[in-house]
Amino acid sequence: MKHLSQSPSDPEFVQNPYAFYDRARAAGPVLFWEDYGMLAAFDHATVHALLRDRRLGREIPDDQRKPVPDHLQAFDAVEKHSMLEKEGDGHKRLRGLVLRAFTSRRIAALHDDIAEICAELIAAFPDTPFDLIPAFCTQVPVRVIARLLGVPEDRSDDLLRWSNAMVAMYQSNRSRAIEDAAEIAAAEFADFLRSYIDTRRDDPRDDLITNLIAAEEDGAKLSTDELIGTCVLLLNAGHEATVHSLGNAVKTILEQGGSRDFLNPDQIANTADELLRYDPPLHIFTRYAYEDIDLGNQILKQGDQIALVLGAAGRDPAMWPHADRFDAAHNAKAHVAFGGGVHFCVGAPLARLELQIALPMLFAALPDMRLDATPSYADSYHFHKLETLIVTP
Ligand code: HEM
Repeated sequence: MKHLSQSPSDPEFVQNPYAFYDRARAAGPVLFWEDYGMLAAFDHATVHALLRDRRLGREIPDDQRKPVPDHLQAFDAVEKHSMLEKEGDGHKRLRGLVLRAFTSRRIAALHDDIAEICAELIAAFPDTPFDLIPAFCTQVPVRVIARLLGVPEDRSDDLLRWSNAMVAMYQSNRSRAIEDAAEIAAAEFADFLRSYIDTRRDDPRDDLITNLIAAEEDGAKLSTDELIGTCVLLLNAGHEATVHSLGNAVKTILEQGGSRDFLNPDQIANTADELLRYDPPLHIFTRYAYEDIDLGNQILKQGDQIALVLGAAGRDPAMWPHADRFDAAHNAKAHVAFGGGVHFCVGAPLARLELQIALPMLFAALPDMRLDATPSYADSYHFHKLETLIVTP
C-alpha cells in the first residue's frame, strides 16, 4: 500500500492544499495518509462512488464506540441525535422528517428575505477598507438560517458563538481547550433551544421549528432531544459552510481579470457551483467500511475509515479540463462539495440560493471592489476558510 505524509497544519498546505492533492491523485489516487492514520481518496471517480456505496457509512461501528468522557456529556447528548452521525433506518427517519419541513417552496420563499438581508448589510458597509467576512459573509447565512428556523435574529451572536465552538471539534487540531469550549456551547445551545421549542409548542408560527414539532411520519414524531440535535445540526451546518463558501467565492472572483458576465442571471447558477468546485469550504468527510471493500489496488478493511477528499475531487483533471482554474464555462454540476448519496447536503438548495443572490448583489453594489491584501486561509483543516477578506470598496 502506498503511503504519503502531509501535515494538515503545514503553513504551505493550509494556504494551498491543491498542490499536494495533485501529487497525491497522480500517485494514488487512493493512498494511506499517515497524518490521518487512514486511507484517503483524491480522485473524483472514487470519491463519487464511495459516497454512494452503502457498504460504507458515517455511523461508528458498535465495537469501536468508546465511553463518552465526563467533560463531553452535553456535546454527546446533542451529537447522538444528529442525522449526520447515523445510518440506516435511524438516519432515514430523521432526514425524512427534516425534508418534509424543509420543502423547496419554503426555500424559494426565502428569496426576498435573502435579498433584503444582503441589501441591509451592503448599505452599512464603510467606505474605507474593511473585512468582508464578518461584515457580509458571516451575517448573510446566520440571519437566513435564524429566520428559516424561526429563532430570533437578535440571538445571531449567540448562535455564532455556540456554533463556532462546536464545529471546532471537527478540526484536525482538536485539543482539550476546544473540547471544553464545545461542551459549554452545547449545553447553552441545548438549553436555549429547549425553552424556545417549548414556546413554539404553545405558540406555533409558520417557521421550520414549528414544522419540525408537527412533522410526523408513520406516527413517529421527533422527541425533544431529537429536535434539539436536529436544530443544532441545521444551525451549525446551515451557516458555517455557507460563510466560507461566500468568502472563498468572493476571493476567487476578485482574483479574476476581465468581464464578470458569469454573475448575470442566466449564468449565476452554474457559476455558484463552479465556485464551490474550485474552492470548497469543507475538504474531507470520512466513512467507516462495514465490510471488506476491494478498491482495485488495495482492500479497505472492515472497521477501517477512509477519508474522502472532496477538495481534491473537485480539481480532478479527468473530470474538468484545466481543473485548477476557475472557469464559468465548466459544467460544474457534478462537483462533490455537497457530498453525495444518502448524506447529500440537506441545505444545498438553500446554500445555492444564498450564493446566487448574495454574489451578484455584492458585485453590483461594489463594482470597483478590490483586495486590499492577499487573503490568508486559517489553520483549521478540514475547513478551508479565510481568516480575513480585507477589501477596498
Ligand atoms: C455551501 C454551503 C454548504 C456546503 C459546502 C455543505 C456541505 C455538506 C456536505 C459535504 C455534506 C455531507 C457530509 C457527508 O457526506 O459526510 C453535508 C451534509 C449536510 N448539510 Fe450541508 N453544506 C452546506 C450548507 C448547508 C446548509 C445551508 C444546511 C442547512 C440549512 C446544511 C445542512 C446539512 C445537513 C443537515 C447535512 C446532513 C445530511 C445527512 O446526514 O443526511 N448544509 N453538507
